[in-house]
Amino acid sequence: MMQIGIDKMGLFTPNTYLDLVMLANARGVDPDKFTIGIGQDQMAIAPLSQDSVTMGVNAALDLLDGENRDNISLLVLGTESGIDQSKAGALYIQRLLGLQNARAFEIKEACYGATAGLMTAYDYVTAHPDQKALVIGSDIARYGLETPGEVTQGAGAVAMLVSAQPRLMVLEPQTTVHSADVQDFWRPNYSKEAFARGKYSTEQYIDFFQKTWADYRNTTDRTIADFKALCFHLPYTKMGLKALRTILPEATEAQQADLLARYQESTLYSRQIGNIYTGSLYLGLMSLLEQSQQLQAGDRIGLFSYGSGAISEFFTAILQPNFETQLAAQKHADLLAKRQQLTMAEYETQFQTELPEDGSAFEIDLTVDPSPVVLTRMKEHERIYEVLTQAVKP
Ligand code: CAA
Repeated sequence: MMQIGIDKMGLFTPNTYLDLVMLANARGVDPDKFTIGIGQDQMAIAPLSQDSVTMGVNAALDLLDGENRDNISLLVLGTESGIDQSKAGALYIQRLLGLQNARAFEIKEACYGATAGLMTAYDYVTAHPDQKALVIGSDIARYGLETPGEVTQGAGAVAMLVSAQPRLMVLEPQTTVHSADVQDFWRPNYSKEAFARGKYSTEQYIDFFQKTWADYRNTTDRTIADFKALCFHLPYTKMGLKALRTILPEATEAQQADLLARYQESTLYSRQIGNIYTGSLYLGLMSLLEQSQQLQAGDRIGLFSYGSGAISEFFTAILQPNFETQLAAQKHADLLAKRQQLTMAEYETQFQTELPEDGSAFEIDLTVDPSPVVLTRMKEHERIYEVLTQAVKP
């Protein structure tokens, strides 16, 4: 049988971050609330030169080689921090990656967007097994200074190459979906910051998880014993843990310990990057795959995607022989280690600095951003992007 799945994954996060103990002190909050109660240590802060387009390109650079380039004919950008109401960010991404003639579009459903892209890619490659799809989740999470959501901000992107006979993981066909019109988190067109009914959103997340999980158990013959690890959408790392704990009693004591240990491994990247919305589930998956020493080919991993508004999907993947060769743990360790820490004043200034909205020309200071692909300036309401590294030019 034809098997479809993820062949390779790429990660990008901007090179500046805020330490959350510092944020706690500045806000008069016990740091343990952030590091233990919320489960976050740092959050990535995007400079003006990074947006959902550039971060998406920077995440996808590592996935492309000569052979892939020719066969990528679907390019989906999942984002809730898009830069335009009409034109898809995927078209800028296509050009900056040196691709052409793909079905390129942008998709929105809060943090579920990349999963919608992944499922679309699965169907597309099933129908066109000689083709590949590039799925990108890229976002900047903004709640505002001195809001309860402030500590759960972040920025980054994940890119996934979907193909037949994938070398990383095969996606299994059975998935379960739950969706309903729920007002837990949203961002009206006129607002740069998201609105969240905080407590309510966490309750909806858990409720949606329990429904998709129960459906999965009822419609397949699988139980929790069939899973080596469970990955969750991670708006902050305590959130997935709360959901996981509700089904842990279904496992033996030994398996409970294993699932909790795998869960911790899946949270290591998010703890340092924060919420990247559409990419967060996949950031957790990358963290698990790159940081765990306990996984083997043939292991089944469960994935829970949640997008406020709301829709959830539970799906599963099987690790492939030599999957380790598709990972880039050292590169991602370097990406995190090379970041610069911001002071509170720098963070607040950065947060409040905006690109012009009146069509005036504006040059962006690029000295703080070593990323290969950047937004360089604004000109007559247009964003001008540049590939700075010659090596990545097609
Ligand atoms: N030491 C240790 N723990 C402490 C503590 C201390 N000194 N003080 C408080 N805590 C614990 C609390 O007990 C609580 O733990 P539990 O949740 O296990 O009970 C935790 O810290 C958080 O405390 P609060 O509930 O009081 O926190 P809050 O009300 O200030 O804010 C939040 C939490 C509602 C999640 C807020 O950060 C928020 O609104 N975030 C944005 C919305 C969000 O992320 N929702 C998640 C579900 S929606 C989704 O998943 C989509 C998405 O990406 C947005």
